[in-house]
Amino acid sequence: MDSILIKGGEPLSGVIPIAGAKNACLTLMPATLLSEEPVTLTNAPRLSDIKTMSVLLRSFGAEVSLLNSGLVIAMSSQKLDNLRADYNIVRKMRASNLVLGPLLARAGEAVVSLPGGCAIGARPMDIHISALEALGAKIKLKDGYLYARAPLTGLKGGRHKMHFASVGATENFLMAASLAKGTSILENAAREPEIIDLVSCLRKMGANIEGEGTHTIIIEGVDRLDGVTHRVICDRIELGTYMLAPAIVGGEVTLAGGHLRLLTSFCEKLAEAGVDFSETVDGITVRQMHGEVQAVNVTTEVFPGFPTDLQAQMMALMCTAKGACYLEETIFENRFMHAPELIRMGADIEVKGGTAKVTGIKRLKGAQVMATDLRASVSLILAGLAAEGETKVNRVYHLDRGYEKLTEKLSSLGAVIERISD
Ligand code: EPZ
Repeated sequence: MDSILIKGGEPLSGVIPIAGAKNACLTLMPATLLSEEPVTLTNAPRLSDIKTMSVLLRSFGAEVSLLNSGLVIAMSSQKLDNLRADYNIVRKMRASNLVLGPLLARAGEAVVSLPGGCAIGARPMDIHISALEALGAKIKLKDGYLYARAPLTGLKGGRHKMHFASVGATENFLMAASLAKGTSILENAAREPEIIDLVSCLRKMGANIEGEGTHTIIIEGVDRLDGVTHRVICDRIELGTYMLAPAIVGGEVTLAGGHLRLLTSFCEKLAEAGVDFSETVDGITVRQMHGEVQAVNVTTEVFPGFPTDLQAQMMALMCTAKGACYLEETIFENRFMHAPELIRMGADIEVKGGTAKVTGIKRLKGAQVMATDLRASVSLILAGLAAEGETKVNRVYHLDRGYEKLTEKLSSLGAVIERISD
């Protein structure tokens, strides 16, 4: 198992690229199941989650090739000879549940393992199930698997209002409704940029969808979808994560390919905290004098609110901000696993239910810490960049799920960081 060693305190400077969005790619890949034609994705991120999704799609009989060292994903699912998403793959990655809608729409049935819980929460599938049942699907749970079946005449258009704007359930509904017979309307739809990217791709495949990015999406089902070549949007969570690196340790860093419009709420909070950043043709530049960051209160919300996927990283910044603040996590029930690890580094954090009170201290101290989930891991890396002395982050396989070339990118900015095998 690998660890990452960081010697903190080095201000950062330089330019690093932002990769394609993991959470866009993980819904764009299952979309290939909707067409018998080839689907190619460019600007794809080189991540272990993408490899896991590739294995899953191949298990249905799809051809998936990672070309150009993974930047291009060439897929073709002309024939599907298996409709079962096995637990041994699904348990590794919840996003495997995004094959449910496409398989139902394409083949009329699907057997998908429940993903099971993960470090940040129980992560049930009830919203996915009720959304797809609105399209005529019959879904029952047996031995830990969802057995889903469309009517013999295929899925039919339906209207559904989600009680919570679930990202994944929105994506499953959109992909299924694209091939359903008739009109479908999804209310209280999620509005994340990754959903807008999915609709952009489906539309190029011939889908008839409008309203993406708003609360209500209308889909006119079509008989078939064509192949497509689609460029994955930039990863706003990687972007936000790396904006916090110069903010926490000082310096001037440009994030090539980043756009502020993807992170409005997050950027409003950074500005409120006194972080200096601007957008240029090259991307987003963040410049920060060390020790000038103010504490700000944060509540995570569905898009366009403050992203839950940046809460752990923001907590790392608040650990050495001036003053005290409250971070409220409203999306997941257990997303403060990074707090006890930051406390090992000297942070002053009190967690009560879904709220963490963070009182800024002058400087964190390097320590051995444990990564528990993807975003908690990277918050410990950020803390290590600013901490006095050496920090060792264990179980960094979590990082490989969502951050390509993390140690190379940070060391190119001047960080003293290396990956070691234990
Ligand atoms: C997506 O997960 C992202 N993953 C997550 O990113 C992100 O944190 C999340 O959206 C929220 O923005 C991908 O896109 C692959 P949800 P998803 O359905 O679709 C509850 C990362 O770090 N819920 O919007 O699973 C659920 O338990 C990952 O990149 C139900 O109760 O998120 C959670 O509390 C982590 N029933 C909340 O809704 C359901 O049927 C948000 O879930 C579905 C969800």
